[in-house]
Amino acid sequence: MHKDFDLLIRNASIVDGTGAPRFGGDIGIRGDRIARIGDLSALRGEMEIDVAGRIAAPGFIDAHTHDDRLMLSNPDMAPKVSQGITTVIAGNCGISLAPMPRAIPQPVTPPLNLLDDQGGWFRFPTFASYIDALRAAPAATNCALLVGHTTLRVATMENLDQAANPAQVVQMRALVQEALEAGAIGVSSGLFYEPAIAAPAEEVIETCRPLKQFNGLYCTHMRNEGDRVIDSLEESFRIGREVGVPVVISHHKVVGQANHGRSEETLSFIEKNMAMQPICLDCYPYTAGSTILSADRAAGSARVIVTWSKTLPEHAGQDLADIAQKMGVPQEEAVQRLIPAGAIYFRMDEADVQRILKFDQTMIGSDGLPHDAAPHPRLWGTFPRVLGHYGRLLGLFPLEKAVHKMTGLTAKNFGLKDRGVLKEGAYADLTLFDAETVDAAATYAAPIAAARGIDVVIVNGAIVWRGGQPTGARPGRVLARETQPCGS
Ligand code: ZN
Ligand code: CU
Repeated sequence: MHKDFDLLIRNASIVDGTGAPRFGGDIGIRGDRIARIGDLSALRGEMEIDVAGRIAAPGFIDAHTHDDRLMLSNPDMAPKVSQGITTVIAGNCGISLAPMPRAIPQPVTPPLNLLDDQGGWFRFPTFASYIDALRAAPAATNCALLVGHTTLRVATMENLDQAANPAQVVQMRALVQEALEAGAIGVSSGLFYEPAIAAPAEEVIETCRPLKQFNGLYCTHMRNEGDRVIDSLEESFRIGREVGVPVVISHHKVVGQANHGRSEETLSFIEKNMAMQPICLDCYPYTAGSTILSADRAAGSARVIVTWSKTLPEHAGQDLADIAQKMGVPQEEAVQRLIPAGAIYFRMDEADVQRILKFDQTMIGSDGLPHDAAPHPRLWGTFPRVLGHYGRLLGLFPLEKAVHKMTGLTAKNFGLKDRGVLKEGAYADLTLFDAETVDAAATYAAPIAAARGIDVVIVNGAIVWRGGQPTGARPGRVLARETQPCGS
């Protein structure tokens, strides 16, 4: 018997990713594209899924990830597809796996060790060779890639405590050019982190020059998200203006007790500048951050949980205060014994998190750290927590708005053509879920857990998650940046 579609999803409540109200209908998929949306009751699919009124939404786009290596080492991408993510933006915070044109110095410079503390995965001398590896062994999800300024510094400089000299800037700029030609969509920086603190804005501007020709993005983990957050926003905007490209403010937040409440100020500053240049921002739905462990950061936090330790791995998942007490030493001494290590830091205000999440232009990005032994729950829980905890339970926004922040808005900002929306002709990236039960299952105490309520996840027409597990399909592609600059 003739079949009209490869896959036919029946009786869906369709949330199309644009923010428009949901509507009932069927979705017919042929190959990697959505062929028809509407009443398809007279038609047949090779495979059919009756979702009985549950939600069909575009697959979620994780605006901020560190999945550069996960796609190669764990291509099922379980932490991602289990929460409905079908595309990840990788290479954030200045940290990218490629290019590394020389043997990476040992021990691996933090925070690059968040991707691999041994260093063996920093094996791609060019960005093109990294993309070739992703294409040769695709992951379950699509990706779009940034090249990290800190990676470029480690690749080209001997002394990271100073600004790059003109010859080093020329080298880094050539590596950016190569990455963009190979298919990177932008540059990320992590001026907050030790190996890039000494880089002045001028170094970043000159390194990023090739971005303009490619209409690439500049994404930044800003120099300061605390007392000097406004100065850092201004520095980020200046870099975007001088290079002539859109800026993405990564995981926007305000940290430190003294700054609680200042998101009112930062968001109005961002909004004012959005009227003058293209600016985007993302955030994750938690009041704790997570990165490498340091005594400074620990001192400024209400609570610290160790996520991994190379020297004392048995302490992963424990509170730093308890570890220090058991050791009978001050916290700073415990930190010295644990590093290289990672941590979760509680230092944000719930009201700020909600205000930033709710801000019209805020995209959702997990900032998950996939190689941590006891990771921050954002790795497995970000998107369902926005839909469930913040959307359904706290009523921060309607479901359609929440989905837009994780699909249509993100695809538009990153220039991912025919992604992030459900319409005829778009790629068949979909997440089928239950609006009544969807939520994160991951917690700080038990961070590795698949979300509740995510039924089926489809990437380029292939089912990658069903029945609470990965299917083994790996249809992911490396996506190019194709549309208008963000903010326009
Ligand atoms: Zn970051
Ligand atoms: Cu990050």
